[in-house]
Amino acid sequence: MAAASDYFAVRPGSALKGVTTVPGDKSMSHRAVMFGALAQGETHVKAWLPAGDTEASLGAMRTLGVEVERHSDTELTVHGGQLQKPDRPLDLVNAGTGIRLLTGIMVGQPFPSVLDGSEQLRRRPMKRIIDPLRVMGADLEGTNGYCPLYVRPAQLKGVEHKMTVASAQVKSALLLAALFADAETRVIEIGPSRDHTERMLSAMGVKIVTEGNVVTIQPTPVLKPINFTIPGDASSAAFPIVAALIVPDSDITLANINLNPTRTGVFEVLQAMGADLTITETGTEAGDPVGTIRVRSSLLKGTQVGGEVVVRMIDEFPIFMVAALFAEGRTIVRDAGELRVKETDRLAVMTAELTKLGANIIETEDGFIIDGPQVLSGAEVYGHDDHRISMSLVVAGLAADGETTVLDAECAADSFPGYAETLRKLGADVRVQVLD
Ligand code: S3P
Repeated sequence: MAAASDYFAVRPGSALKGVTTVPGDKSMSHRAVMFGALAQGETHVKAWLPAGDTEASLGAMRTLGVEVERHSDTELTVHGGQLQKPDRPLDLVNAGTGIRLLTGIMVGQPFPSVLDGSEQLRRRPMKRIIDPLRVMGADLEGTNGYCPLYVRPAQLKGVEHKMTVASAQVKSALLLAALFADAETRVIEIGPSRDHTERMLSAMGVKIVTEGNVVTIQPTPVLKPINFTIPGDASSAAFPIVAALIVPDSDITLANINLNPTRTGVFEVLQAMGADLTITETGTEAGDPVGTIRVRSSLLKGTQVGGEVVVRMIDEFPIFMVAALFAEGRTIVRDAGELRVKETDRLAVMTAELTKLGANIIETEDGFIIDGPQVLSGAEVYGHDDHRISMSLVVAGLAADGETTVLDAECAADSFPGYAETLRKLGADVRVQVLD
């Protein structure tokens, strides 16, 4: 485990070559432990992601009395059944997905609970789940719209809810509460956000149907256990992919990557910019298509990003910003205001940190404008305890002149344990150092 004062030391140089994988999908790993706990029997999970955020969800399930057997870091058995009244607050640490999904489950339980997390999580908006859950009859309150969240038992009712924010976490919280409601629930999305909840619940015996932007779910308080093997996280894959695109003469292949179409927006946008990505479907895992992605260095062209694709690449904008700096011409991103309420305000933080490397970025209310290609120079930058910021800055450093120091290396392990090692195996000069 890295210490709080670790940093990434990054030097440009060699092309990236070789074949690698990335750790298991974070969204699916959160869901596997939570949904497994609601199943009657044993749910076996392979290639689970042992990262800060998902360990927080696992810990919270244990606080709810769920037995989770750990066969290794990545393989576990969840013994599902009855959740128990917790004797302390459920601590989701930094995990937004963890707290929002688990709240959807807790409002349907016959005992009270408190959900809380780190100072960072306490700054993330919870009104977006509190308000619609209340419409379903849930008895919960936040702390001025933030966590800690206080939940008391209540009979939930089936509703029709029209989403006002494009968020899979909000959708999932409502779908999970709907399992415990007295009638069918319909959730109408703005556009198709990631659908892991729908796919997994369906595999676990829930009657759930998606027609266009409408998800209809029937109450099903007890799920059927199943066995999952979790594919590699497409969001994690985006870091080595952009690195290979912008570091000259690179040619890498990533195997076993989740190709669920609600997650592949960034690959489509990069391909439209001229990225040489060859995507080959090789099978399915836990209901999702999986496959290999071969990436060769490419001269990218600027593009415009907005509308429905935004939610399908929401976690990839920090690394996409790095790609845009190396594209020829103007890149304009719109409709991405949600980036301001992630682990950090990712528009502001990425703009500020890349500026330290010499980048010129116009930050707008809901996106950014970049004229490229630009030349970056190594400098000291800061990850702000946000895994995707820290990892994106490492990739920027690989294509900058001179050495880049990314302070706050340990947060990368919130979603991508072994990040530096993975890049190093491909030939990148990235080391984790301890600041004394
Ligand atoms: C997630 C949904 C997204 C994403 C997050 C994971 C999920 O959040 O940013 O990393 O697993 O449902 P929003 O629902 O807030 O967009």
